[in-house]
Amino acid sequence: MAKAAKTLFECTACGATSPKWLGRCPSCGGWSTLEETRAARTPSSTRGGPGARAAELPIALTDVQMDDADRFSTGLGELDRVLGGGVVRGGVTLLGGDPGIGKSTLILQALASVAAQGKRVLYVTAEESAAQVALRARRLGMSANVMLLATTELDDVHASLDAERYDVAVIDSIQTVRSSALESAAGSVAQLREVAASLTGAAKRGGPALFLIGHVTKEGSLAGPKVLEHLVDTVLAFEGDPTHSYRILRTTKNRFGPSHELGVFEMAREGLREVQDASSVFIAERPVRAAGSVVVPTAQGSRPLLVEVQALVAPALYGAPRRVATGIDANRLAVLLAVLQRKAGVHVLDQDVFASAAGGARVDEPAVDLALCAAVVSSLRDRPLAMEVVVLGEVGLAGELRAVTRPALRLREAKRLGFTRAVLPRADVARLSADEREGIDLMPAATLEDALQALF
Ligand code: TYD
Ligand code: MG
Repeated sequence: MAKAAKTLFECTACGATSPKWLGRCPSCGGWSTLEETRAARTPSSTRGGPGARAAELPIALTDVQMDDADRFSTGLGELDRVLGGGVVRGGVTLLGGDPGIGKSTLILQALASVAAQGKRVLYVTAEESAAQVALRARRLGMSANVMLLATTELDDVHASLDAERYDVAVIDSIQTVRSSALESAAGSVAQLREVAASLTGAAKRGGPALFLIGHVTKEGSLAGPKVLEHLVDTVLAFEGDPTHSYRILRTTKNRFGPSHELGVFEMAREGLREVQDASSVFIAERPVRAAGSVVVPTAQGSRPLLVEVQALVAPALYGAPRRVATGIDANRLAVLLAVLQRKAGVHVLDQDVFASAAGGARVDEPAVDLALCAAVVSSLRDRPLAMEVVVLGEVGLAGELRAVTRPALRLREAKRLGFTRAVLPRADVARLSADEREGIDLMPAATLEDALQALF
């Protein structure tokens, strides 16, 4: 049998294939990521579903029927925003996140409110029993008409989708559903691809809007990410520090709207609550006049968000100085410390540096650079910044300040929360209209050194 079966080894991280097993993936360099899979027998026949079909013919682009009404609200504004304005019929969304972060809760709440609009919704639970889902629904106080299918078989899911016209269907999770066309275990790359492709096919042929829930691996990527991400229309990441109650929903890909959108939720006893005024939440616990604390107006997608970054600098006692970053890219921190040392004359290379984004937030845009540098210098010199100042700007390797995206949006949010001064790249100030400069004291700087001088 081993002879007849065409085996293939596929990387679980990047999806690259190899005819023989290798200890290291030649494509992405991952160690021990190759897994044995069987080439799908005839993928086109399994993907096409039962029955033969007539060939599609080309039509003029302008003749394509489109209906704006084909988008509808989930009833959760924060979720609608990251989807690009609501659910698109036939659209496929991958919702990824760590186990226990709240994916099932989020999707169940959304389903309930879609069902309350009189739409037909199906929740396929392949991980938890029907009783467990019902228990959660009761805890959430839901009474909406959600159809539940407890199975791990792809064929069962197709049968249900064929039997009834659903508006939305959820698969929780994609890693636990298995296609009988393949012999490998559920969750293998071959299975993931087969299950996702087959369901996506059903959605595209006039089926429901589909949500696929997926777990994230230790490394922070969806298992078989490349395999799934190009198949689906939208990829959402649900993240947050499990020790905090705030959760952030991010768009990392969207064929139906802007990517890099952001939604904020709070996990409460009665489920997830939308957080409209997220900025005030993330800076609520800011210490009063404490060294090492700096507020930066971030802007991911159309959502401005004020975040407090903190740094603690202490002399390294022995060995190489330590750099620990939480919610901030550690490599970026290392680069910024080197720029501080070489271009701004701040001696930090023999210091331990701990940096974090407060409140379990995660910031990974270049606009945070200057705030991070300011927090480090503030802690090093034990000089708190004025409470009413925000700091933004990208720092280049030559110590120059570079413009950020959407400066006006960021400043408006800072003003709204009572900040009256901003240190920012000169190039950004030049891009602001007179109106946008109104109400906040702008302190433009061309270099990191200038900015630090203005601040301290
Ligand atoms: P869950 O949605 O099961 O996470 P996932 O599907 O991503 O694995 O949520 C699990 C956590 O959420 C669990 O630790 C309990 C918590 N939780 C609440 O705090 N309040 C609630 O109302 C619910 C339903 C869950
Ligand atoms: Mg779950």
